[in-house]
Amino acid sequence: MEEENRMEFKKNILCIGAGYVGGPTMAAIALKCPELRVEIVDINAERIRQWNSGDIPIFEPGLDEIVNQVRGKNLFFSTEIAEGIKKADIIFVSVNTPTKTFGEGAGMASDLQHWENTAHAIVAHSQGDKIIVEKSTLPVRTAEAMERILKANRRGIRFEVLSNPEFLAEGSAVIDLLEPDRVLIGAHRTPEGLAAEKELVDIYAHWIPREKIITTNLWSAELSKLVANAFLAQRISSVNAISALCEKADADISEIAYAIGSDSRIGSKFLNASIGFGGSCFQKDILNLVYICKSYGLTEVADYWEMVVKMNEYQKRRFVQGIVREMFNTIAGKKIALFGFAFKANTGDTRESPAVQVTRDLLEEHAYVAITDPQALENAKQDLQGTDGRVSYEVDPYNAAEDAFAIAVITEWEEYRRLDFERIYRSMKKPAFIFDGRNILDHGKLYEIGFNVYPIGKKPLTHFE
Ligand code: UDX
Ligand code: ADP
Repeated sequence: MEEENRMEFKKNILCIGAGYVGGPTMAAIALKCPELRVEIVDINAERIRQWNSGDIPIFEPGLDEIVNQVRGKNLFFSTEIAEGIKKADIIFVSVNTPTKTFGEGAGMASDLQHWENTAHAIVAHSQGDKIIVEKSTLPVRTAEAMERILKANRRGIRFEVLSNPEFLAEGSAVIDLLEPDRVLIGAHRTPEGLAAEKELVDIYAHWIPREKIITTNLWSAELSKLVANAFLAQRISSVNAISALCEKADADISEIAYAIGSDSRIGSKFLNASIGFGGSCFQKDILNLVYICKSYGLTEVADYWEMVVKMNEYQKRRFVQGIVREMFNTIAGKKIALFGFAFKANTGDTRESPAVQVTRDLLEEHAYVAITDPQALENAKQDLQGTDGRVSYEVDPYNAAEDAFAIAVITEWEEYRRLDFERIYRSMKKPAFIFDGRNILDHGKLYEIGFNVYPIGKKPLTHFE
């Protein structure tokens, strides 16, 4: 049966790693290339079970519709990794590469154990030539290490390694995949490398204009991914640094962001001041860049980029310090409601979310923390294991705010703008405080209701003398 199916498809694509990157990317390829058989495998059987159920494991607007359309037709989820490798013509590697927590480079370098296991599995189970596509964000020159492992096999099988970094952002993954600004493919500039590159270009060319498919050498592609994330994160740290100045200097960070962003050379995106950036990529990729620079002896370059992460830490710390200071220098025994826990809106992902640090700092000050989030409560519970007792989880934001002394807005969920803040105000302890870590609420209106309002990078609106 499987063999029969195989005959119908022009090529077999395999993706190892059914996560935030692998899942959506393969769904998009399956949707746009019906003649390809796309299979996603993972060591996590529960995750695969979820992808095969009606309830897919990641929340991403529009993704379930696509998965429902192609699952069982030309998109398959399985734990049969060896079998998948045998059949595949092209293998995307999309396993997680978190920051190392131990040994040399701990806290900076990437932990490549999952990735290396994958390389060994590919060698062990391959019976013919294959194209290997790096999808995970990896330190520069990882492809070289991948090639060394792959070429150490003595069975005459040829592996051509490509780098095809993914630029999708969570929450907008579907649109980013279907209408990307660009696709980047790195390959060796050899006849074999260029032939493999062409195969991958042809896949993307099913739906992406050819001029948006950028081809480079392998190392440029790998490094471009780190640099793109470093530049984006740097914008946020820059605007957050100025937000601290605004709070002292009676200027307004939103007005400044608009004024500078109107310069077409600067551009208006990624200039929203916040409690700090989170997510699985920015910090990891910058620290990776820093580690690489240090390993080449480029101390000044490393320090320059490391400052982006340090500024982000400062912004998170500053937010909690502001809460404590404004609430009469003590929050011990006070209930604080956190509106949002995800690292950004439209995702349930909490990896590196500023919410984790903020909650821990509030608990350190002996506050009670009530967390509400439309998508991220389960992940929040995992992140905060061991802090039971002083943390509660509420699906309903009104319940979270009841009897609270303060609300801290952590995630820019659209629904928070539409809440009935008069009702919320009535249910809270007085004086009631709002710390808007995302500047999404109508501060003037909240002030009129009776709240003391503390935005980021703007003058607070308070009823105190
Ligand atoms: C990022 C990159 O955008 C994407 O190209 C890459 O593939 C993966 O990393 P992601 O982490 O999903 O994507 O989210 P992104 O939208 O970039 O936001 C990252 C963090 O920055 C979030 O915590 C977000 O809230 C914060 N942010 C973003 C700001 O604080 N201010 C802004 O103006 C923009
Ligand atoms: P990303 O955001 O980079 O997609 P995720 O953590 O969401 O990262 O997904 C990575 C996936 O890779 C996880 O589901 C994990 O179980 C899977 N994985 C890790 N190591 C292996 C491996 N050796 N073989 C197959 N899958 C793996």
